Amino acid sequence: QVYTDYFFDEPAFNTHDGGYVPLVAPDTPQNALAIPPLASPDSETTNEVSYTVTAQAGESQLLPGKKTKTWGYNADLLGRTLIFRDGQHIHVTLKNQLPELTTFHWHGLNVSGPIIDGGCHAPVYPDKSSDIDFTLHQQAATTWLHAHPCPSTAEQVWHGLAAMVIVKDDHEDSLPLPHNYGVDDIPMVLQDRRFHEDNQWDYRADYDPDGVQGPTAMINGTINPYFDVTTQKIRLRLLDGANRREWRLHLSDDLPFTQIAGDGSLLPEPVEMTHLMITCAERAEVIIDFGKYKPGDKVVLYSDDVPLVEFRIHDYNPDTTELPEHLLDINPPAVDPTTPIRHIVMSGMDESVALDGKKFNMQRIDATQPMGQAQYWDVTNTNTMDGGMVHPFHVHGTQFLIISRNGKAPYPNEHGYKDTVGVNPGETVRLLVRFDLPGVYMYHCHIIEHEDGGMMAQIESYDPSLPRPTYKLMDMDTL
Ligand code: C2O
Ligand code: CU
Ligand code: CU
Repeated sequence: QVYTDYFFDEPAFNTHDGGYVPLVAPDTPQNALAIPPLASPDSETTNEVSYTVTAQAGESQLLPGKKTKTWGYNADLLGRTLIFRDGQHIHVTLKNQLPELTTFHWHGLNVSGPIIDGGCHAPVYPDKSSDIDFTLHQQAATTWLHAHPCPSTAEQVWHGLAAMVIVKDDHEDSLPLPHNYGVDDIPMVLQDRRFHEDNQWDYRADYDPDGVQGPTAMINGTINPYFDVTTQKIRLRLLDGANRREWRLHLSDDLPFTQIAGDGSLLPEPVEMTHLMITCAERAEVIIDFGKYKPGDKVVLYSDDVPLVEFRIHDYNPDTTELPEHLLDINPPAVDPTTPIRHIVMSGMDESVALDGKKFNMQRIDATQPMGQAQYWDVTNTNTMDGGMVHPFHVHGTQFLIISRNGKAPYPNEHGYKDTVGVNPGETVRLLVRFDLPGVYMYHCHIIEHEDGGMMAQIESYDPSLPRPTYKLMDMDTL
């Protein structure tokens, strides 16, 4: 079966927003798609690895003429890709060379909050550094690192503070999937920007409380990219790294592609499709088979009707490997029937956005959950279909399962572990959530301006066999 649907509710697509900024195909020359280089460890033994990640300011040649002032991690813009392994003990020195405080949030990593997780309680001040250590227990996935200082997450991500973090494990290594980074295993960070005078970005000028957008697509920090295809199959690790934009992806000739992974794991089974929508912070790994094309052909990846990337087909060796019919065993944790269902409400738009009727407060712990205990979370978006929007709901420090949408089956491509789920207006999505580690974790809408605007809360996961720890929670005044 080949799905030809975006699944989400069409009346809620961002194209209907009052402030929607349509993408416009650039009229500047094409550029080779930038492949972020891999971060090199400071030191590495079989089970231990150390990195330094520096948030820094730089300049990037994005358009002809003046360079654009940009921020990045060990890079002028975005960042070097980090590759972590399940079971590895990881040490990271976080350095801030920016003129303002920042934090380093590991979106999708199963690490403890609020400090290692790098949300708003873990500031690193200018010219300072801090060190984190953790042992990663996690399945293969495409995750990411981004800034998360409250309330300027959106502005810092807009400046460029986002990088891909790929988790590897033995099981995924053993599957016949493209694994050659930059050749057939391609990171693809989807963002949009508006260029002002002298090719500069101006976040304040473009500010919109429903999410800042720009008319120009930027893929891995490249404007108008092409990619040279030298293998029959490629794997794209798609990340919606935009502040607000949804991407509705499809290929020329309606070429089908196969989704193999979501945010936090492989899918149990590959899903074939011609259309894929991802909302802010979601990831999807897809395999494209160019077997029916010959050298010299071109295949274009579009969002709606705007070209994003041109794939230029070169000579390749025929590749007859079949994708396994089954990719991953998912064993949902059992839920004790006496455990109450947690209800969460995302409401409003613009400045009126709220979570459970409240604005975020850094000092307030909104909920608790015993660590290791699986609970259902019913997450409701109270917007109406008439003028409402899809709010992408994200939880730190865990990978959840999607049980249902308004009591019906989840979409066919969301049967793996996820950390972000787009919730349609008027919809209640039931999640199965468990925290493996004690700590304080944020959960919020991932339209980043909504998160900064207070559509966010925090939960403490605690070890019931221990006295409750006290956490040092920052607030705006102590920052
Ligand atoms: Cu992408 Cu609170 O995170
Ligand atoms: Cu996160
Ligand atoms: Cu939202």
